[in-house]
Amino acid sequence: MTGPLLVTGGSGLLGSAVRELHPQGVFLGSEDGDLRRLDVAKALLEKIGPSKVLHLAGLVGGVKANAAQNSRFLEDNMLINTSVLSAARALRIPRLVSILSTCAFPMFSDRATTEDDLQAALPYDGSAGYGYAKRMLDLHTRLAVKDEGLAWTTLTPVTMYGPHDSFHSEHAHVIGSLIRRCWSAKTTGTPYVVWGSGRAVRQFVLARDVARVALDALDRHCEPTTTIIAADSGITIHSLAEAIADVMAYSGPIVFDRTQPEGVLIKRVQSACFASRFPGFQFTDLKNGLAETVRWFLKHASSAETASATPLCGAFADRNDHV
Ligand SMILES: NC(=O)c1ccc[n+]([C@@H]2O[C@H](COP(=O)([O-])OP(=O)(O)OC[C@H]3O[C@@H](n4cnc5c(N)ncnc54)[C@H](OP(=O)(O)O)[C@@H]3O)[C@@H](O)[C@H]2O)c1
Repeated sequence: MTGPLLVTGGSGLLGSAVRELHPQGVFLGSEDGDLRRLDVAKALLEKIGPSKVLHLAGLVGGVKANAAQNSRFLEDNMLINTSVLSAARALRIPRLVSILSTCAFPMFSDRATTEDDLQAALPYDGSAGYGYAKRMLDLHTRLAVKDEGLAWTTLTPVTMYGPHDSFHSEHAHVIGSLIRRCWSAKTTGTPYVVWGSGRAVRQFVLARDVARVALDALDRHCEPTTTIIAADSGITIHSLAEAIADVMAYSGPIVFDRTQPEGVLIKRVQSACFASRFPGFQFTDLKNGLAETVRWFLKHASSAETASATPLCGAFADRNDHV
C-alpha cells in the first residue's frame, strides 16, 4: 500500500515532535475534523489514503480535570479511538500505532507496574474514564490484529515534555508549568511555587524520543500488546523543581504549596519488553531534555502566559497536578 503517513492529533505535543522528524506526513488537528464522528474519520482516511496511521488524537488532561469530568474523558476518547480504528479497519490500513497512557494501568506501592499489569487491577479512580478508554484502545488494537491480520500496536509513554508543550502556569503539565513558574519567579521576583509536598515521584520522557519510537514502530513488526516507554525510574517533584531552577539559573527560594493536590504519591512503570522490541534505543537525559525545552520556551512562549496552550487547556484546567 502506498500513501503518506497520517498523524491524528498532529497539532499536539507529540504530533509536533513527529512533524519535526517526518515533515512529509499529513498532520491533522481538531480543526480538520472532529474525530469523535465516525463519518468524519472515514471521510478523512478515504481522502488521504494513508499507508500508515499514527493515532495520537485524544482529550488529554490532568488529575483535577479528569476527576471533574471523568465521563467526558471516557466518551470523547472512546468515540475518537473507535472512529479512527474502525475507519482504518474498514480501509485495511496495514500499519497503525496508537498511544495508551499509564493512567490505564493500576499502580502498586511495592513494585513498578509492567505491561503485564494492564488489566490486572483497577486503574486510578480519578482518571478511570480516560484510563478505561485507553484500555479499550488496547483491546480494539489486539482484536483487529487477531481478526484481520493487521500489523497494529500501541505504545504507552510516561508523561511527555518538550518543545511545543503548554507552558501555562496553572493549566500545563508539570514540567511546562514549573518552567513557567520558575521563569516568572526569576523575572518578577515572585516566589517559585511548586504544587504539593514535592515528595511525589514521576517519570518523564522527551516527546521527541517517543516520536522516534513511534516512527520506528510503524516500520518494524511489533507484537500487538503495548510497549511502555519510560526513560528512567523517575524523579521526585522536589528534585525536578531544583533541576529546572538549575537549568534556568534561578537561585531564589522554592516554595512547596501543600494545599494543592499532587495525585498518587508514587507512580512508577517499567517496561518488560522495550529493550527487546527497540534494541539499542538511547533516551535523552532529563537534564539535556529540560535544557532544550527551556531554550524553546524562552524563544517561543516566555512572553505570553497562554502562548502555547492548546485550546483544550482552557476547558480542562489544572493539568499540572502531576498526572
Ligand atoms: N502528554 C502526555 O504526557 C501523554 C502521556 C501518555 C500518553 N499520552 C497520549 O499521547 C497522545 C498525544 O498526547 P499529546 O500530549 O500530544 O496531546 P495534546 O498535546 O493534548 O494534543 C491532542 C491532539 O488531539 C487533537 N484532538 C483532540 N480532540 C480531537 C477531536 N475531537 N478530533 C480531532 N482531533 C482532536 C488535538 O487537536 P487540536 O490541537 O486541534 O485541538 C491535538 O492535536 C494522546 O493520545 C494522549 O492520550 C500523552
